[in-house]
Amino acid sequence: MSDGAPRRRSVLLISGSTRAGSVNSAVIATAAALLPDGVDADVYDGLLLLPHFVPDHDPDELPPSVADLRRRIAACDAVFLTTPEYAGSMPAVLKNLLEWTVGGDEMSDKPCGWANASAPPGRAEATYEGLSATLRYTDGNVVDAACVAVPVARDRIGPDGLVDDPEARAAIAEALRQLLLASG
Ligand SMILES: Cc1cc2nc3c(=O)[nH]c(=O)nc-3n(C[C@H](O)[C@H](O)[C@H](O)COP(=O)(O)O)c2cc1C
Repeated sequence: MSDGAPRRRSVLLISGSTRAGSVNSAVIATAAALLPDGVDADVYDGLLLLPHFVPDHDPDELPPSVADLRRRIAACDAVFLTTPEYAGSMPAVLKNLLEWTVGGDEMSDKPCGWANASAPPGRAEATYEGLSATLRYTDGNVVDAACVAVPVARDRIGPDGLVDDPEARAAIAEALRQLLLASG
């Protein structure tokens, strides 16, 4: 029974970079810090724990890391991603994560957004088009207003590991606001 308090919501935040000192992971940490009151951040930390996707897996006996991923997607109200471009597309580790979500219903209609932090502006556009297309294949609800280009140069990461550019921070916050609007 509801106690009348507003329901807490959460956003699953995923960086496609595994690099120490990653700009994309700094954007994800910044997004976590910018979420409004009442919204929890779940910063995904399992990218390198996921085995390669194999279609033959019994859906009732998924590897623990995959079960954890799916549980976290099911539990969140929205998903927000960033990724570097590697050789013209998203890194294989991120595509692998998304392949593991196909066939489950956790992503069904889940509001999804992204921030393209690639700098200088105009980089990685095809990669983010591809990310949106893949998210649609997973049945995610790609919220256009929550998909933004926010170029972040490496020297705009502060000592706290967060993006210190006010314009970029405002754009990330607005993308998250749009994502949460779409999540009801
Ligand atoms: C193996 C590899 C391939 C890359 N391929 C591209 C590319 O195709 N296009 C591009 O714009 N940048 C490419 N880059 C540069 C990265 O996308 C860029 O450095 C990015 O900012 C790294 O993100 P991170 O700081 O979050 O790790 C590549 C980097 C690596 C290591």
